[in-house]
Order: sequence, then C-alpha cells, then structure tokens
Amino acid sequence: VALHLVGLGLNDPKSMTVRGLEVTRAADVVYAEFYTAVMSGTTAELEAFLGRPVKVLDRLGVEKGGPRLLEEARSKDVVLLVAGDPMAATTHADLLVRFRQAGVPLHIVHAPSIFSAAPGLLGLQHYKFGRATTLVKPEKGWSPTSPFDAVAENHARGLHTLVLLDIKSDLGYFMTANEGLAILLDLAGRTGNDWFGPATQVGVVARAGAERPTVVTGPLGEMQDADFGPPLHCLVVPGQLQVVEQEAWDSLRVAAGGRSA
Ligand SMILES: C[S@@+](CC[C@H](N)C(=O)[O-])C[C@H]1O[C@@H](n2cnc3c(N)ncnc32)[C@H](O)[C@@H]1O
Repeated sequence: VALHLVGLGLNDPKSMTVRGLEVTRAADVVYAEFYTAVMSGTTAELEAFLGRPVKVLDRLGVEKGGPRLLEEARSKDVVLLVAGDPMAATTHADLLVRFRQAGVPLHIVHAPSIFSAAPGLLGLQHYKFGRATTLVKPEKGWSPTSPFDAVAENHARGLHTLVLLDIKSDLGYFMTANEGLAILLDLAGRTGNDWFGPATQVGVVARAGAERPTVVTGPLGEMQDADFGPPLHCLVVPGQLQVVEQEAWDSLRVAAGGRSA
C-alpha cells in the first residue's frame, strides 16, 4: 500500500535495478509514463520482460490522475514506471509532495539516468557541469531563446552543459542531435553569442544504456550531417576541459568515427 516510482533506466529495461524489477513484479497494478523519456522497445516487449501487464499513462493521466493514483495507493501497491531515474528532470516532484501531504507512502527506486550516463560516456567530470537545458521544437512564430541561456552562462564559467532534446512521444517525435545542433546555432546567432559557431566543439550521445551507444565529439560543423542512429539523442557543449577530459574528448573525435555500434 504505497506508490512506487520505479526507474526503468536507459534505453531498455534491462538497465533497471533488481529492486525495481522485484517491486514491479510484486505490485498490484503497474502504470508507466513515457512522456518524459522513452525506452527503445514496445510496451508489449516491456510487459513480456516484466511479466506484468502495464497501463501507459499520458501526462494528463499522471498529473490529473494524481488523485486517483493517491486513492489507489491507499489500498494497493501501485507502481509507476519512468524511463531513466524517476526523479531526474521529470515532473514527479509534485507527486512526492501530494503523497506526503496526504500521508500516503511514496517510495522511489532509482535507476541509471542520462544525467550521469552522458558525462560518463564522454569522460567528463560530473562536477564540472552547470545547469542542464532542454531544446524545444520550434513552432511557427515561437522559438524561445531561453534554452541557450544555460549554455552561455555555463560557458562563461568554464562549465559543461548537458543539452536534452525535446520529445513528444504521443506524436512519435524525438528531436535528433542534428536538429538540436541546428537549433543551437540559430539560438546562438539570435542571442549574439558569437563564440558559438560551426567550429565549436560539441559532443553527441545516442542511446546511452544500449550495449553499443554512439558517443562522438568534434566541431559542430562536422557533426551536423552525421548519422547518429535511432533515438534517444542528447548533446553536450563542453566548457574548459581538464587534461584527462581533453584526452577522452579527443579519443572520441567524429573524424575517427567516435565510438559507435
Ligand atoms: C527529460 S529527460 C528524462 C531523463 C530521465 N528521467 C533520466 O533520468 O534519464 C529526457 C531527455 O534526455 C535525453 N535522454 C534520455 N535518455 C537517453 C538515452 N538513453 N540516450 C541519449 N539521450 C537520452 C533525451 O534528450 C531525452 O529527450
């Protein structure tokens, strides 16, 4: 009789923890949300792996369904599966607050997250990252420049930036690294950040958590037309690289093929 927020980890559910799997198998009802991030397989594959039926909730189902989850968790063990770590860059802190206020237990089962995987794959120090940012798909007449603020602020302080990319899973839209790089160039131009251009070094991480993720670094201009394979993708704009970070960065150069499947 609790809500368990269970992280599925990265790319495929084999990266969830043993604890996460045990809690899910023992639950009375299993939900999942894939609007904050997705896994590579289908829901049927996920159900086969877990050995449990899974009801997929959309954003409204989680946010507006919060009261129902709360009522259900008063009498049942309810699991909500979330890609990555359930509390990393998702909106589930509101659930935490609502459950605490209502006195209904909410437990978190952590899992690998893009926040630790991307720096790790690129050989960058976690503590040299500034705040992360998310690029949104430009709509007609609406393309905010604010996502570039974090990149510019971090750059000024010599810090790296993790750049997450928009997903609209209900529409099957996953922004590619290529689109993300084009948007960054556009935003840099519109905000007068002349230091950022085709010669700027960027890193691309695709399908972190897969057996052979794609991890490449190089000048933006050389990366723009490269093929990074299926989603999910994210970007890193490096700040000042320390000696070992620089060696790691150079070893992943796009010209040398980076490291990929
Ligand atoms: C809002 S974040 C959700 C983070 C998730 N809760 C976690 O802890 O990993 C989703 C974004 O992170 C990036 N991302 C998530 N998983 C990824 C993966 N396995 N490989 C590359 N990028 C990923 C993508 O840019 C995606 O749109």
